[in-house]
Amino acid sequence: MPERRPREIEIRAATEAELPAFDAVPHYVFASSPEEARAYATMPSPLPAECRLGVFVDGKVTTTYAWVPWQVRLNGRPTSIPGVTMVGTYPQFRRRGYLRRLMARAMEVHRERGEPAVILWASMGAIYQRFGYGRGSEYISYNVDPRFVASREEFTWDGEVRLIDQSSPDDRAVVERIHEEWATPRNLVPMRDAARWEYLWWEAQRKGHRVAVAEDAAGRARRFIEYTAKEHHQTGEPGPDQQMEVCGFFALDLDARRALWQYLRAHDLVLRARFGQVEPDDPLQDLLLEPRELRRATGDAMWVRVVDIPRALEARPYSDAGALTLRVHDDLAPWNDGVWRFETDGEQSRVTTAAGTADLDLSVNALASLLTVFRSATRIERAGMLSGDAAAVRRADAIFATAYAPHTPEGF
Ligand SMILES: CC(C)(COP(=O)(O)OP(=O)(O)OC[C@H]1O[C@@H](n2cnc3c(N)ncnc32)[C@H](O)[C@@H]1OP(=O)(O)O)[C@@H](O)C(=O)NCCC(=O)NCCS
Repeated sequence: MPERRPREIEIRAATEAELPAFDAVPHYVFASSPEEARAYATMPSPLPAECRLGVFVDGKVTTTYAWVPWQVRLNGRPTSIPGVTMVGTYPQFRRRGYLRRLMARAMEVHRERGEPAVILWASMGAIYQRFGYGRGSEYISYNVDPRFVASREEFTWDGEVRLIDQSSPDDRAVVERIHEEWATPRNLVPMRDAARWEYLWWEAQRKGHRVAVAEDAAGRARRFIEYTAKEHHQTGEPGPDQQMEVCGFFALDLDARRALWQYLRAHDLVLRARFGQVEPDDPLQDLLLEPRELRRATGDAMWVRVVDIPRALEARPYSDAGALTLRVHDDLAPWNDGVWRFETDGEQSRVTTAAGTADLDLSVNALASLLTVFRSATRIERAGMLSGDAAAVRRADAIFATAYAPHTPEGF
């Protein structure tokens, strides 16, 4: 038998010339249709080459990892938290440890770039929990028959709802301004820069989405929604048979929220309206006569990986001043593993290395849930993922609390 030549394995960024071969990996593993793959090739503002890391075996890409380099509001403060995407290994190269090696390198790269944490949508939580990711936010959806979701109180509104012209720069600017104002105080929300908007407007037109804004009596736009409606012919019975998909809704005040809800309910031919990525703080269930008619369902949304503990803890503002020592366990990013002293006046924080017994003992996965306050310290402790004395756990609850629940209404 001829001896097989040893394989050369490199872990590095893809070059411009390698981008088509690189992008072919996620298209294959996520089973993109040929149309989707073609559309992707014409997408405006593609990811820069330096945001794609791969495993190359004898010069050919086998495993991919990329990220969208955006600013995410962490309890209101903009922070460089990239959105990781395109994670995949061709089936014939799986279970050889390529992703693990790539993940370890990616942690170093994010640290060198000064990025405190990363976020992603997981195809399976099992893949990422072993790499130190923890749950960072919840996915909430509604699935309603608009006929049965009346408000508890009568609502009158002297503003107007109008469909915008998506090719008009002025109309686009109205929507972009609402989003920015909405996102600014929030938690785990990526800010949409010009490149992101260019992509989103392209995507909305490609998918035939409509965008409606609610304007108050003074003509100020306070909310927008993005949705599609199609004939569904599900029942074969006469009567309402359209299916509506609502994929974005951003409200600056309660009246605008109610006005757009009323507007959606006025679509008499809609049998089912499905809302994805609903804000956890959405007050709608408190406004309805029959809250259960929302058919609210939950699942996991963002998975968060703390890359660099001092940077991550110093990045966000806190609800209370105080100090804590944390013993954090991390086997993939050894620079995180150890005891840390954390001190904050609420606005500014300082994290330094420490020694001895810590107030709280937790994995880097649990720290991710605490950082975004997907879970309070008390809830993390009840799940057996954190230990510490009762006073320290209560102190962590008070310090880490945020005004808004974490929410990332962005596909990537
Ligand atoms: C997930 C995927 C990228 C793993 O690639 P890989 O190169 O085979 O991974 P590795 O061999 O480095 O395995 C890494 C670790 O993850 C585990 N793992 C791999 N795939 C897994 C899966 N599907 N479910 C649970 N664990 C998995 C391995 O057991 C291994 O654990 P260990 O290092 O603690 O022993 C690959 O299976 C894939 O492309 N899947 C389809 C696409 C996908 O789901 N991507 C994630 C999108 S968010």
